[in-house]
Amino acid sequence: MPTDGKIETYGSGIAIDLKGKVALVTGSSSGLGMEIAKYLAKAGAKVAIHYHSEKQPADALADDINKNGGKAAVFGGDVSKLNEVTSIFNSIDSQLGPIDILVNNAGIDGKRELCGDDNPADWERVISINLLGPYYCSREAVKRMKKKGSGVIVNITSVHEFLPWSGYTAYCSAKAGLSMFTKTLAQEVSDFGIRVVSLAPGAIKTPINKDVWGNPETYKDLLTKIAMPRMGETSDVAKAVAFLVSDMSSYVTGTTLVVDGGMLLYPAFKHGG
Ligand code: BGC
Repeated sequence: MPTDGKIETYGSGIAIDLKGKVALVTGSSSGLGMEIAKYLAKAGAKVAIHYHSEKQPADALADDINKNGGKAAVFGGDVSKLNEVTSIFNSIDSQLGPIDILVNNAGIDGKRELCGDDNPADWERVISINLLGPYYCSREAVKRMKKKGSGVIVNITSVHEFLPWSGYTAYCSAKAGLSMFTKTLAQEVSDFGIRVVSLAPGAIKTPINKDVWGNPETYKDLLTKIAMPRMGETSDVAKAVAFLVSDMSSYVTGTTLVVDGGMLLYPAFKHGG
C-alpha cells in the first residue's frame, strides 16, 4: 500500500487530532453548530462557542466541555454586523488565542415567502446572516491564519446551494453565493497554507426544520425526498466537519462535501423513470 511515509504501525487506527488548535463555530448554542463544537472539542481543539441570542445553552455547552477534559469559552454577537464580528475575534484572541479553524455555521432559513409578495427586509436579513456573516468572519480569520501560515475555513452551505426551493429565494441565493465565496477565497489563500471548503447538509433534524419533522404528514413527504430512509442527525454533519478541519483532508480545498443521505440523487427515480 503506498503511504506518505508516516505510517509506522498498522492497525492502530487513524485519529482526527486537533490538539493545540483553536476553533470558532458560529451559531453553536443549538442544532448543528452545537454538535460541531462538541466534536471539535472531543478531537482536542479549544473551542470558541458563539451565540447570538441564546446565551444559556452556549454557557451550558462550554461548562460541559470544560468539566470533561476540554477547553471552551463563550462569545456573543451578531455575525451580520462587522463591528460585532471584529470584537468577537479580538476577544477570542485574548481568551483562547488566534483561531486556526473557522466553521461558518450560523444561519437562518428565513420565512417562506414568494418573490413579489414578500418583504424585502426579510430577504436582506437572510442574505446578511447567511452570506455577509461568513464573509465578515472569514476576513478576520484569514488575517490571523495568514500570520500562522495555516488554517481551515468550513462554510456550512446546504443542498440548496444546488437545489432550488420555492419560497426561499433568499436562502438559496445566499447558499449558492456562499459556495462561490468558498471557491474564490480558496483560490486566493491557497499559497498561505489555508484551505476553504463548503459542507452542504441535507435535511438534518434540528430546531430549524422542526415544523417539517414535527408533523407526521410533512415528515412523510420529506422522507420521499431523501434516498436513505432517514433524516440526518447532527452527528452525521459534525463527523464530516471534523474530517474537513483535520489533516485527514490535507489536500481538499475549494469544493463542497455533500452530507445529505442522497437528497441530491433524485430519489423519486428509485421507483422508475
Ligand atoms: C434547511 C432545512 C431543510 C434542508 C433540506 C436546509 O438547508 O435549513 O430547513 O430541511 O435544507 O431541504
